[in-house]
Amino acid sequence: MTAPVTDNAVLKLLNVESAYGPIKAIRGVSLQVRRGEIATVLGSNGAGKTTILKTISGIIDPRKGSIEFKGNDITAQDPALIVQQGLMHVPEGREVFPLLSVRDNLLMGAYTRSDRDGVARDMELVFNYFPILRERAAQDAGLLSGGQQQMLAISRALMANPDLILLDEPSLGLSPKLTKEIFEIVVRINRERGTTILLVEQNANMALNASDYGYVLENGRIVMEDTCARLREKDDIKEFYLGMKEAGVRADRRWKKKKNWR
Ligand SMILES: Nc1ncnc2c1ncn2[C@@H]1O[C@H](COP(=O)(O)OP(=O)(O)OP(=O)(O)O)[C@@H](O)[C@H]1O
Ligand SMILES: [Mg+2]
Repeated sequence: MTAPVTDNAVLKLLNVESAYGPIKAIRGVSLQVRRGEIATVLGSNGAGKTTILKTISGIIDPRKGSIEFKGNDITAQDPALIVQQGLMHVPEGREVFPLLSVRDNLLMGAYTRSDRDGVARDMELVFNYFPILRERAAQDAGLLSGGQQQMLAISRALMANPDLILLDEPSLGLSPKLTKEIFEIVVRINRERGTTILLVEQNANMALNASDYGYVLENGRIVMEDTCARLREKDDIKEFYLGMKEAGVRADRRWKKKKNWR
């Protein structure tokens, strides 16, 4: 008898390797995102976070490995086809259309849909999450502040009514207060709509608090993974990603012991 199928992963990466010419940016990355959760990939500058997301959404073709979304192989598929299957990517630096109005930016997110009523409902929904976008609906998106553009980029992704959103460093360039506000809404979107989210961040504190499961990426490799509750308690994470000195001293002692140093 075979075991019952309990696999609820929406996204699976298996040994994915991507490079820019001779530069290997990610080296054998395997990870899973389960339906309904917020998963996060933590890593510092240049670790390969953006490359992982671009490889998933088809912007970069991997050299090796495979990517499965909702049970279908999407490895190196056309990005437009991947969008149609319900996977939306909010890129680093937001990339809204500056000369289109806020409303038209939102409608661009819904371009694959033909259910007008559903689109109108979702427009109302994003205006409820981010009331400032309702106020600015007729204004050019290029006139929004950085934080408002981040809200618009997330909202544009929501307009596709996706199963999975890839979110690339929403905290980039934002004040701690605004970052906190945006993370709170991302968590609400996940809890209220059940949208699965894969978030990549340098801001480990915010990401670990908002997410259920986390991966730590260093030099293109996953070096640690666990529930975020457990990751937050690890000394290495406290020292290197949360900047807590006490933990640093303990992590250092352990490391020296492992290496037989004194
Ligand atoms: N277009 C490119 N051409 C060449 N090398 C690139 C390109 N984009 C990224 N890289 C390199 O690939 C590696 C991973 O970059 P990536 O942008 O994925 O990192 P990241 O974790 O998103 O960093 P950050 O936190 O700064 O956004 C880095 O060494 C980077 O220099
Ligand atoms: Mg990046």
